[in-house]
Amino acid sequence: MTDSKTAQPTDDAPQTETGNRLFGRRKGRPLRKRRTSLIEDLLPQLQIPLPKPGDRLDPAGLFDTPKREVWLEIGFGMGHHLAWQAAHNPDVGIIGAEPFLNGIAGLLGMVDDESLNNVRIQPDDARPLLDALPDASVGRAFVLFADPWPKKRHADRRFIGPENLPRLARVLKDGAELRLASDDMGLVRWMLEHTVKHPDFEWTARRPSDWRIRPDDWPATRYEEKAIAAGRKPVFMRFVRRPRG
Ligand SMILES: C[S@@+](CC[C@H](N)C(=O)[O-])C[C@H]1O[C@@H](n2cnc3c(N)ncnc32)[C@H](O)[C@@H]1O
Repeated sequence: MTDSKTAQPTDDAPQTETGNRLFGRRKGRPLRKRRTSLIEDLLPQLQIPLPKPGDRLDPAGLFDTPKREVWLEIGFGMGHHLAWQAAHNPDVGIIGAEPFLNGIAGLLGMVDDESLNNVRIQPDDARPLLDALPDASVGRAFVLFADPWPKKRHADRRFIGPENLPRLARVLKDGAELRLASDDMGLVRWMLEHTVKHPDFEWTARRPSDWRIRPDDWPATRYEEKAIAAGRKPVFMRFVRRPRG
């Protein structure tokens, strides 16, 4: 991914409350008036209250009405995919983590316009949220067009890898789907290598169309649209969390 908005390495990367280094942007263009008021007024109603480190939160209890499952999107960007999933799956509670303020405001705008009542937000790094979720509490997870970190010395910043796959394996239910996508072939190879060798995940693809064609229940994200406009071909990967022994 070569978009200018892709996260850039900084030596003074800000830390999250839990001390993890977070790479990438928190802010873009100044927010317009409506988006500023969504951040000030709506975000506090939807923000997930993280417990202190070591404690777990009750994801089902985040929602006003009982939900069939809780799904998680990490790095939701401008929020189009998350809002679509929320609108099409009203019986599912969807939680999203994203530190980029303009993206959070974008999602809040869709939540407000479409009166979505099944969205909750961690407006920050996904890792403390993952650590706060109970074992086997998430029915589906999405990490779509994650920052590719193409330089070899930055490979450990890639979200899908040895640091975070065990976190995802812990919170996903048996048989839950993990959906990954990218248009960066270096990142695709890296994610496949690490996910396929992880004992808890199985790649479901049987034929090329399984990774070349996006399923109907998986809308395009902003970064997918940019990739296609630039002539790059995205890869869509679906993994299943193997049943616990
Ligand atoms: C390349 S963008 C893709 C956004 C969106 N998924 C899309 O496809 O349009 C990657 C996103 O991941 C977010 N991100 C990076 N590290 C993250 C982390 N540790 N937790 C949550 N989001 C993260 C970035 O802020 C950025 O918005």
